[in-house]
Amino acid sequence: MQNLTIKGTCEINGTVQVSGSKNAALPILAATVLCHQPVCIQKVPHLKDVTTMLSLLGNMGMTFSIDHKLNVFIEDSTLNLYEAPYDLVKQMRASVLVLGPMLARYGYAKVSLPGGCAIGTRPVDQHLKLLEQLGADICVEDGYIIAKAKKLKGATLTFDKETVTGTENILMAACLAEGQTIIRNAAKEPEVEDLADFLNQMGAKIEGAGTNTIKIQGVSKLNGGAYQVIPDRIEAGTLLIVAVMARGSITLTECQPSHLEHVLDALKQAGADIEVGDTWIKLSMTARPKAISLVTDVYPGIPTDLQAQFIAMNAIADGESKVEETIFENRFMHVSELLRMGADITLDRNIAVIKGVKHLVGAKVMATDLRASAALILAGLCAKGSTQIDRIYHIDRGYANIEEKLCKLGASIQRSPSSHFHTA
Ligand code: EPU
Repeated sequence: MQNLTIKGTCEINGTVQVSGSKNAALPILAATVLCHQPVCIQKVPHLKDVTTMLSLLGNMGMTFSIDHKLNVFIEDSTLNLYEAPYDLVKQMRASVLVLGPMLARYGYAKVSLPGGCAIGTRPVDQHLKLLEQLGADICVEDGYIIAKAKKLKGATLTFDKETVTGTENILMAACLAEGQTIIRNAAKEPEVEDLADFLNQMGAKIEGAGTNTIKIQGVSKLNGGAYQVIPDRIEAGTLLIVAVMARGSITLTECQPSHLEHVLDALKQAGADIEVGDTWIKLSMTARPKAISLVTDVYPGIPTDLQAQFIAMNAIADGESKVEETIFENRFMHVSELLRMGADITLDRNIAVIKGVKHLVGAKVMATDLRASAALILAGLCAKGSTQIDRIYHIDRGYANIEEKLCKLGASIQRSPSSHFHTA
């Protein structure tokens, strides 16, 4: 198992290009199952989760190639096996995204039920309930969701709870359903809108993605073409928080500032000087950050995927703050690791109360999930001494070339030479 060793209190300055969005690329790759002609997906990030999605699609019969710029060319999306096995789904919950498109195109899908994970129980009841309302016959046998439908039929559907991948699954299924589907209480995240833009470019008829109500007029098949994935707003937010913590000055290029409005407001409150253009963000910070209280929320609110990084920032900020997590019930595993580095944080159910300390101290810590690992890297970069982060495979799931990017900005990070790549 690999680990990272980070030397603390470095300067962070320079320019960095934001990668394509993980959470947009995954549903778009799954959606290629619906396409009857070759597809090229551009700006796919170089990540373990993308490799897992491609293994899943390849395992089911899809043929594709990847060029040196990481464009994925789907040559033939025809499947000859309609099953997402436990071994792949347990590595990545987003594998459940193949359920909707497989069912819509082939009338059958067998997908392992994703279990709980480090950040919560994360059920998929809403995905299944709405697929049933589109006419699917669904049962769970031996840990597998088995879904069948001769032809899905459009309907007016309402999610009990906003769910990102749930909305994406239903959106993909409804593209090939007979007649019109209306999804109410849909997730509004930019990644959902990006998926809809991709599907529309391939011939789907979707309106309203990015709002709470999405209308889909079913079509008989989708075609092919080229599409570029949106920039990763969580990677961008993580890099901006690094610069705030390290009192640095950075420019992000190839990003989408409009996807980060609330995040940029929070960082301004913390004391950062921020300028934005159409596709770039410049941030500079000269003093210790001010502590800021925040509550995670669905888009356009502060994303839960930046909660851990904001807690790391508040841990070294001037003052006391509260960070409330409203999306996942158990997304505070990073807190006990930050305590080992000298942070002063108490947890009261879903609220972390943070008293900023002047500096953290390097320690041996353990990554528990993707965003928690990012928070520990941020903390390590601003801590006195050296920090060793174990179980670093989590970070490789969702951040493309993170060490390279941070080292280019001035960080000192070394990966242990271990050649084993752990994926659980
Ligand atoms: N929920 C249900 N039933 C469902 C579906 C969701 O109760 O059928 C609950 C969840 O347990 C959670 C809430 O609804 O409490 C929202 O979960 P959502 O379904 O929106 O999350 P997700 O689709 O599983 C995606 C991202 C996550 C991100 C969340 C929230 C992908 C592949 N994953 O997950 O990303 O945190 O939305 O924005 O898009 C990450 O990248 O680190 C990550 C975890």
